[in-house]
Amino acid sequence: MRIGQGWDLHRLIEGRKLIIAGVHVPFHMGEEAHSDGDVLVHAIIDALLGAAAMDDIGVLFPPSDMRWKDSDSRENLRYVMTLIKEAGYRVINLDTTVVLEKPKLGPHRPAIRENLAEDLGVPIGSVSFKAKTSERVNAVGEGRAIEAQAAVLLEEINK
Ligand code: C5P
Ligand code: MG
Repeated sequence: MRIGQGWDLHRLIEGRKLIIAGVHVPFHMGEEAHSDGDVLVHAIIDALLGAAAMDDIGVLFPPSDMRWKDSDSRENLRYVMTLIKEAGYRVINLDTTVVLEKPKLGPHRPAIRENLAEDLGVPIGSVSFKAKTSERVNAVGEGRAIEAQAAVLLEEINK
């Protein structure tokens, strides 16, 4: 078994879509980013790469590379899953938290879990998604940023 953890934070700005695990959450602000800014998927990618002790997200998908301009982060996640599988691992479970002051993410939990289960190739029961506020404290609490955390467990197969 190998455990991995990942973290990410993006500024929230007007005129951008708020994308969480590929789900478009209606809001007047969204993640500032070179890519689609999917902060949760970015944290999950680093958790997977971390569990396998591979490169990190910035090495694999450099922000300076025009290929990733406005790119769909879920495509990057599925590519990382091919690396994980090639290295001889399978995902046991994924646990995630997004910290966001507004809006409430509860209504979007089923869609978020479904997208992640699909990309990781695991049953929905192996994927958890939780949301928290930052109690109006710090940049996240002031509504200026969104933060995501992920923990993943991999099992070595065929070894
Ligand atoms: O941060 P706090 O403890 O006040 O969050 C309470 C609950 O509100 C969370 O456990 C979660 O169910 C929900 N929540 C949410 N969307 C957010 C923040 C919190 O659905 N952006
Ligand atoms: Mg990011």
